[in-house]
Amino acid sequence: MKRALVIGASHSLGAHVACRLAASGWSVVGTGRRPADEVPHAGEIDYRRLDLADLDAVDRFVADAPGYDLIVHNAVSYGPAHGDPMPDPAALEAMFRVNAVAPYRLLHGLLTRATDRFTSCVVINSDSIYRAGKHAGCYAATKAALRVLTTSLADIHRSTDTSVATLLLGPLPDPGKLAEFERVAQRLGVDTAEVTRRYLRKSNPSYVIDDLIDFDSCHRSVEYLAELGPAANGMVCRLDGGSAGSLI
Ligand SMILES: NC(=O)c1ccc[n+]([C@@H]2O[C@H](COP(=O)([O-])OP(=O)(O)OC[C@H]3O[C@@H](n4cnc5c(N)ncnc54)[C@H](OP(=O)(O)O)[C@@H]3O)[C@@H](O)[C@H]2O)c1
Repeated sequence: MKRALVIGASHSLGAHVACRLAASGWSVVGTGRRPADEVPHAGEIDYRRLDLADLDAVDRFVADAPGYDLIVHNAVSYGPAHGDPMPDPAALEAMFRVNAVAPYRLLHGLLTRATDRFTSCVVINSDSIYRAGKHAGCYAATKAALRVLTTSLADIHRSTDTSVATLLLGPLPDPGKLAEFERVAQRLGVDTAEVTRRYLRKSNPSYVIDDLIDFDSCHRSVEYLAELGPAANGMVCRLDGGSAGSLI
């Protein structure tokens, strides 16, 4: 049985990817910060708590880890006050630790362990790195750091039995966004599909999509990157609604 690790599997996209992998026969370890009794699908996967803000816990997790065929790094912190253009320095440092420093250390540790198998590593990133507006600037900076560090990992682990690729996503149907669209739709008396279309046109003129990027397309992209094997090393796969415009 192939083994997968999904970091940030307690809800939303990570939960979907972990459960889809488990349903297609993978043995899946999934991590999150919240306790297992708050994770409805904890029984479908081997759910473990791991707080990426705690670098000692990250090191212990690496020390106990078996070899994996697939590692998906999905976890993210949007910070205590998402959208605050000037969070206090401790909050900003904490975001960088969870979104860039800890994943770099964790993935490097996991990929360095000698195993008997080829490991595909897929790091989820965001199209926000192309647009540093005042509200998403801090979050985007942490994801930009992760993006650069991911290429560094691909180079460090070149010529080993690993590949390290980025799956760069556009706007997802995360539970928070869906609830907000529902609220707006009721207020305006239109359907949620119309609210979604208007949101996509307003939020970024470079989007060429009329719907959010569905979780299943993300999962299929993860599987595609894993199937490419060594050729995926250093690859950036963009499933982002065309958000960076036509030339990037
Ligand atoms: N949402 C979007 O529109 C969008 C767009 C483009 C790209 N992305 C990317 O897609 C991925 C998933 O986004 P999402 O919106 O679905 O995220 P999310 O709902 O906030 O879920 C992220 C996961 O990260 C975990 N996590 C958060 N803080 C953590 C910490 N300190 N230590 C360990 N785990 C922690 C969460 O666990 P707990 O909840 O248990 O703490 C959860 O399992 C992210 O990499 C994001 O950058 C999202």
